[in-house]
Amino acid sequence: MSLRGKNILLGISGGIAAYKCAELTRRLKDQGADVRIVMTKAAKAFITPLTMQAVSGHAVADDLLDPSAEAGMGHIELAKWADLILLAPATANLMARLRAGFADELLTTLCLASPAPIAIAPAMNMEMYIAPATQENITVLASRGFSIWGPGEGVQACGDIGPGRLLEPADLVERVVNFFTVDKQILAGVNITITAGPTQEALDPVRYISNHSSGKMGFSLAEIAQKMGAHVTLISGPVKLTTPKNVERVDILSALDMHQASLAQLDCCDIFIACAAVADYRPEQVATHKIKKQQGIDDLTIKLIKNPDIIADVASVENAPFCVGFAAETQNIERYALDKLKRKKCQLIAANDVAKSGQGFNSEKNALTVFSETERFDITLATKKVVAKQLLEIIAQQYSQK
Ligand code: PMT
Repeated sequence: MSLRGKNILLGISGGIAAYKCAELTRRLKDQGADVRIVMTKAAKAFITPLTMQAVSGHAVADDLLDPSAEAGMGHIELAKWADLILLAPATANLMARLRAGFADELLTTLCLASPAPIAIAPAMNMEMYIAPATQENITVLASRGFSIWGPGEGVQACGDIGPGRLLEPADLVERVVNFFTVDKQILAGVNITITAGPTQEALDPVRYISNHSSGKMGFSLAEIAQKMGAHVTLISGPVKLTTPKNVERVDILSALDMHQASLAQLDCCDIFIACAAVADYRPEQVATHKIKKQQGIDDLTIKLIKNPDIIADVASVENAPFCVGFAAETQNIERYALDKLKRKKCQLIAANDVAKSGQGFNSEKNALTVFSETERFDITLATKKVVAKQLLEIIAQQYSQK
């Protein structure tokens, strides 16, 4: 029952593989999931809504403009209800429409309106699958954070042999379970220190220099690392977030405070993750009283001096922990990230393209490219918790090989 409490919205489009959706639904329910079905018009030519209603235990949603359906669980409520939207089978047509952002029928509208992660299980004739238009649509959807599961290869309904088969229901259920499962053992007993949030560099008693970090990425890492069995210390700049359960939190304001708090952890730190957006510079002088506006003087010069580089200092101590840095970049992402990996003596660096809207600073989602000296891992756009899980899986694997 590894999907107990999970809400899965299964979107079925019109392909012959739709007949497998009855078994898929039953298997998802066997794992404890609550499954609701949305069907396109074409899907109903391959499997009946009555069958899907019987196996899911809920009326099937198939009409965007049906007043009686909207009076029950309306499409916006359905979009919010889902923990995961699984599109299976996803036809070439559905993917093209998703890429273009159509909202003229229920299924694509729900996908646009939902904050839930979306997994696509393509199924179609192999020529349609390898067609450049379909491949380009898949690439674009993947880059927007959709997970692409499959297709499988083999004999197709039309007799052709090649890629384009819907993954078997058991494989799809395994992917759904893996998607939600946090392995409670992979960081068991490991001591992890995580920095999060912004720092504040005081100018005077009421003003400071800071940035837009909300702390959400670092707090997500702390929550998931703790669930993976680690002892977690979270060194946090000023943020409005609740401390994750069973995580020890140290609150700081400035980069100098964070530097001191980080070095103080080194006796019992196996992995150090620097997710905080630390100010590189601070005002040389902090005025004792509020800086007053000067009559007749239109400019004000503030001299800034360099802050210590926290992760570089942590990585330079004898018996240094396994160090994971972040690199927030707006251009030349790979080059700058690899430079930081080397310069700061980190084992891994997670590059964040903060020029893209909808990810990075103060947003709900993120996407990362993680570099070691020899490898590269892409984590596509997803909620910060999903990104944290994937990043920690990479860290755990690399840490175990060090
Ligand atoms: O907090 P959120 O709103 O969720 O946003 C998340 C995030 C965008 C802040 C996060 O994902 C991220 O990218 N954090 C790093 C931000 C940053 O300041 O990057 P940087 O490229 O300037 O710094 C590189 C690395 O050195 C970082 O690991 C940073 O923590 C570390 N550093 C930087 C300066 C300094 N004086 N000491 C440091 O340890």
